[in-house]
Amino acid sequence: MLNFFFQIFHQLLTIIVVHVKPRLVTTAPQYWCHSCEEGLCAECFEHHKAIKASRSHITVDFTKFMKLKPFISTIDTECGLMFLVNNIEKVIENRVKNKEKISNQSTKSRSDIQILRKEINKHLDNLESQLATKSDKIIQDENEKLENILQRLEEKKSNVNDIKQNFSELKIGGTNLQVFISSRQIDKTISEVNESLNLEMTDENMSELSLEFKMNPDFEETINQLLNVHLNKEESTVLLDLFYKTFLSNCFRRCN
Ligand SMILES: *[C@@H]1O[C@H](CO)[C@@H](O)[C@H](O)[C@H]1NC(C)=O
Ligand SMILES: *[C@@H]1O[C@H](CO)[C@@H](O)[C@H](O)[C@H]1NC(C)=O
Ligand SMILES: *[C@@H]1O[C@H](CO)[C@@H](O)[C@H](O)[C@H]1NC(C)=O
Ligand SMILES: *[C@@H]1O[C@H](CO)[C@@H](O)[C@H](O)[C@H]1NC(C)=O
Repeated sequence: MLNFFFQIFHQLLTIIVVHVKPRLVTTAPQYWCHSCEEGLCAECFEHHKAIKASRSHITVDFTKFMKLKPFISTIDTECGLMFLVNNIEKVIENRVKNKEKISNQSTKSRSDIQILRKEINKHLDNLESQLATKSDKIIQDENEKLENILQRLEEKKSNVNDIKQNFSELKIGGTNLQVFISSRQIDKTISEVNESLNLEMTDENMSELSLEFKMNPDFEETINQLLNVHLNKEESTVLLDLFYKTFLSNCFRRCN
């Protein structure tokens, strides 16, 4: 059992040693090539010198290069990273602002609707009271006319009832001649009253009255389309720095 663990442990050690060894060799540059802006290991340097394309490149000893230009050697890289971070930050700031902007606009639209709702309510209250005043006036005028007509009709009815009563009494207590003469007169009255009633029916005071409350037929359509929301998409206002080199002058100041 113990032997088994030892075996595993030994295998692990072997793997680690094999893995670490070549890395140490490749990561230590001995020379620096100004043309390539790259570090070269001793073996790479020999290849670099041998190849026709890179034979004329100016190379220096890496430790010398590090002593002479420790600052300049990393400034391009650092500025490149800063350049990217700067641009990404611009986009992030823009998106955050835009997120806040549409949320603000949504909130604003809600408070605008509250204001509009109050205005519409006020307007409807006004319309309601105007309508009430108007219809009250119509009712008042018409009631007056109706009362007059009713009074006239009641008088007419009571008059006819009187005649009816008188004639009944005359038929009991009067002579035949009296009844005959009276009936001639009453027939004439009947004809006259009938005539006047028929005539009166053609009058506009006898027309069937009704109050009609009208609503503008466009109103429902208008109210349906009164409010809407639409998402506009316009070209971004973010201006990214395009050239790393123009960014560099600012960058030098920032790196210091
Ligand atoms: C959103 O509203 C807040 C509060 O009114 C305001 O401070 C902020 O500037 C607004 N943001 C945008 C992007 O309009
Ligand atoms: C209708 O009624 C009004 C009010 O009572 C009255 O002034 C008018 O004369 C009437 N019209 C007719 C044609 O009788
Ligand atoms: C009915 O009879 C009474 C008494 O006789 C009389 O005074 C009155 O005028 C009569 N009415 C009518 C409508 O003829
Ligand atoms: C009442 O008047 C109408 C219209 O003038 C007439 O047609 C009808 O015959 C009259 N009726 C009587 C009972 O007089």
